[in-house]
Amino acid sequence: MSQNTNQTPDKATLIIGEQKFEFPIYHGTEGPSVIDIQKLLSQTGYLTYDPGFTSTASCSSAVTFIDGDAGRLLYRGYPIEQLAEYSDFLEICYLLMHGELPKLSQRAQFSEHITYHTLLHEQIISFFNGFRRDAHPMAVMVGVVGALSAFYHDSLDIHDKKARDTATYRLIAKMPTLAAMAYKYTIGQPFVYPINSTSYAGNFLRMMFAVPTEEYIINPIFEKALDLILILHADHEQNASTATVRLAGSSAANPFACVASGIAALWGPAHGGANEAVLKMLNEIGHVDNIPLFLEKAKDKNDPFRLMGFGHRVYKNFDPRATLMREMCHKVLDQLGQQDDPLFELALELEAIALKDEYFVSRKLYPNVDFYSGIILKAMKIPTSMFTVIFSVARTIGWVTHWREMISDPNQKIGRPRQLYSGNVERNFIPMQNRK
Ligand code: CMC
Repeated sequence: MSQNTNQTPDKATLIIGEQKFEFPIYHGTEGPSVIDIQKLLSQTGYLTYDPGFTSTASCSSAVTFIDGDAGRLLYRGYPIEQLAEYSDFLEICYLLMHGELPKLSQRAQFSEHITYHTLLHEQIISFFNGFRRDAHPMAVMVGVVGALSAFYHDSLDIHDKKARDTATYRLIAKMPTLAAMAYKYTIGQPFVYPINSTSYAGNFLRMMFAVPTEEYIINPIFEKALDLILILHADHEQNASTATVRLAGSSAANPFACVASGIAALWGPAHGGANEAVLKMLNEIGHVDNIPLFLEKAKDKNDPFRLMGFGHRVYKNFDPRATLMREMCHKVLDQLGQQDDPLFELALELEAIALKDEYFVSRKLYPNVDFYSGIILKAMKIPTSMFTVIFSVARTIGWVTHWREMISDPNQKIGRPRQLYSGNVERNFIPMQNRK
């Protein structure tokens, strides 16, 4: 672990039976301090047991800080509220990648690096043709992003800083192109090539919705809303997909393969798949009259149903991203005149009822970012199957930033968790004729 500390380390004492062991404590710049247990096994013969890593800091990181109780989220020290108001997604990418906000010339140069790489090798189109038209776009993304490592050999050397930078630019630049292609493929429309004179979000909308026969005008409200969604999803410290990217990268796998592993982890409904699951759930609930029934299902321990878009592992007060997204949600619906769309009415009613319900209040289950992002994306006519894909476009910068941080950490080791073994003790092989 690197010494990301601002105080002299203290010690923690562990007593097992008659024996006492001491372990150093490190203090971060914010948040809980950690007990360094790297020597626990060698000194005591014991392992720690922490399924789901609820009390485990797997690394030292200077990228993002979350204070779940206070509902604070900082990228490189800057509060998300300020970044959402004054910045844009490409600037956030620079900030996450380099640790500081860019000066004007740095910003211009960064944009050039990104736009230079927005096109894809033409042969990648053949990959798309290999998928069924009804494939889920996340399935396509897992495949084609991993396949980038088969095309861009000059950015695979993880020990070469220039190659790492090029891989980073390529991933940020190509993700929207790939994501839009994944959508166009499912509806049988021609792929739309990127246009570098538009914004990152505007270019993505154009690649999703333009057709060669008609002029496409980017809707500025949608462009702003999508940019906000990208900013709010850009990073979230050691979540399941980022931890997956770090673990994959810890074996020195190439960055495209690592990001593909992150996309796979993101897909699940407990993580990035939640925004898609929210819309499915709202359709299933169907009418405000059915809300009590579904709330009962969510509370029933024998029913696997959960209220999608509610709850968070870290935020136990409110999710600051949800507050920003909620505001934008109302703005978008207002400007589109869709406030009385039955699905949106249902969502707002569900939010109001759940926020008063004792079960949700006592467990600190608040609407999370995905509750509102799903609604905004639906209003923007983005198909539900693309919601998690958009999350993956945004989170790519977070994944790559953590991967870069890990590669540059001199204390980095291959990730290799241990286990509490609960299987059979050693036993002898039984020949077939003797098996009962
Ligand atoms: N609906 C009903 N009950 C819930 C829900 C929910 N959405 N979330 C948590 N609970 C209950 C859970 O049953 C448990 O109750 P009890 O204490 O009586 O056993 C208690 O709340 C604590 O839940 P937990 O499973 O220990 O919490 P966790 O930190 O492991 O899970 C979560 C966090 C996000 C996976 C979970 O809240 C969930 O499944 N939410 C719905 C899916 C969702 O919206 N995911 C998106 C998260 S935000 C985007 C991202 O960062 O990826």
